[in-house]
Amino acid sequence: RVPEPCALVVFGITGDLARKKLIPAIYDLAHRGLLPANFVLIGFARRDWGDGDFAQLVHDAAKTHARTPWDDGVWARLADNIKFVPGDFSDDDAFDQLAETLDGLSSSHGIQGNAAFYLSIPPSYFETVLDQLERTGMANNEVAGGWRRVVVEKPFGHDLPSGKRLNTMVDKVFGWRDVYRIDHYLGKETVQNLFAFRFANTMFEPIWNSHYVDSVQITMAEDVGIGGRAGFYDETGAARDVLQNHLLQLLALTAMEEPVRFIPSAIRTEKLKVLRAISLPTELEGNAVRGQYQQGWLAGERVPGYLHEEGIPKGSTTETYAAVKLHVETRRWAGVPFYLRTGKRLPRRVTEIALNFKRAPHLPFSPDDTEELGHNQLVIRVQPDEGVTLRFGSKVPGTVMEVRDVAMDFLYGETFTESSPEAYERLLLDVLLGDATLFPLNEEVEASWAVIDPLEEFWAGQKPAPYRAGEWGPKAADEMLARDGRAWRRP
Ligand code: BG6
Repeated sequence: RVPEPCALVVFGITGDLARKKLIPAIYDLAHRGLLPANFVLIGFARRDWGDGDFAQLVHDAAKTHARTPWDDGVWARLADNIKFVPGDFSDDDAFDQLAETLDGLSSSHGIQGNAAFYLSIPPSYFETVLDQLERTGMANNEVAGGWRRVVVEKPFGHDLPSGKRLNTMVDKVFGWRDVYRIDHYLGKETVQNLFAFRFANTMFEPIWNSHYVDSVQITMAEDVGIGGRAGFYDETGAARDVLQNHLLQLLALTAMEEPVRFIPSAIRTEKLKVLRAISLPTELEGNAVRGQYQQGWLAGERVPGYLHEEGIPKGSTTETYAAVKLHVETRRWAGVPFYLRTGKRLPRRVTEIALNFKRAPHLPFSPDDTEELGHNQLVIRVQPDEGVTLRFGSKVPGTVMEVRDVAMDFLYGETFTESSPEAYERLLLDVLLGDATLFPLNEEVEASWAVIDPLEEFWAGQKPAPYRAGEWGPKAADEMLARDGRAWRRP
């Protein structure tokens, strides 16, 4: 489906996210023929620029980061409809001019008042920009005569009170139906495949519960450090940056019941039930671990410790690693621990969801031959090597009955010839189409903060445990599982 004629206004167009993800996604959509004719891209920033300067930025960003091949024809069509409005977020005149520009596009480009506003800006500016959009009537569908939507990037607040405030504000200005909160993990193919895997098959759902599942591990590991984002990262930390959103969303999709229909309200209802059913261990000591990387080696290169990264204040106690044990208090998951972890400067970039199954209740083989036999395991590999692995015991060829674990793999790359759209490409298209299926609702965000706040409170004033860059996090995280008689996967 192709969206109706519309404009996309991006605030924060010169930032990293816009250059590396949003602009390339727009080019890719154009390349795949998924943008309406007359789609207009408007940049708003505090630069003394004209349309041409902005078009140059879009050109360079798309050429460098787009997934689809460069095509002069696609670019020419896009370039014709790129506009720039210079100004400060507190500058009334600039927003008045933006409103005028949008109005003008209805007659010149037939966008019929349709526009989405992408706030790719630090949360501290949200209020100012939302006020401006409200003041000028730009947020109002009726005044505009078409649809108006807003896209907000995570983090949605800093804790539950600020998250609530932000939600109330943005829902009031735009109306909750027109608010799209981006959690780009939901735009990933493999994450969406969880719906298909669980609800389009018969064989997995009967064992997807506490009768068969021993524990669940959700990992989002990165080998990179904090890049050029010291200011943002040091204020945020791993728990707020990733655990609060990506990891809890993955947990929600793993643990939720089947939605009555594949529509946003039904999916959000089921996810919300899971998020609200999450409980933290009564004893957080030892069950919630945070760490900070020290200098070490990654891919043969020496990398500095967090405290020596440029822009990180001396003695910072921000965590770059967080691991926690959670429970989902429902009949399906009673007693099954969900172990979540995320970290920077871990040995490799990998995101996966692993369901560890209970051991067979009885093994008729000689104990010597089954010593090696572990638990059955199902691993959804979100990235890289997107796919699914099933581990099960198998007879080792030979004259004795020896059993060993083997793996059966499904790999996207081998099975499908279709290329996966990038997460932002899919999500941007959904915004323009008005499909909110993959966007968390305000209540989900708030339920997630309700999980994180007690953790942050527990950690406040504690120093994160050190771990060497290139290792799988602090020892305390291994001890957390060892105490339960389990171990983290080493993907
Ligand atoms: C972002 C986090 O949401 O996700 C970053 O703010 C992290 O810290 C990034 O690096 C990872 O995304 P991806 O898609 O590369 O796994």
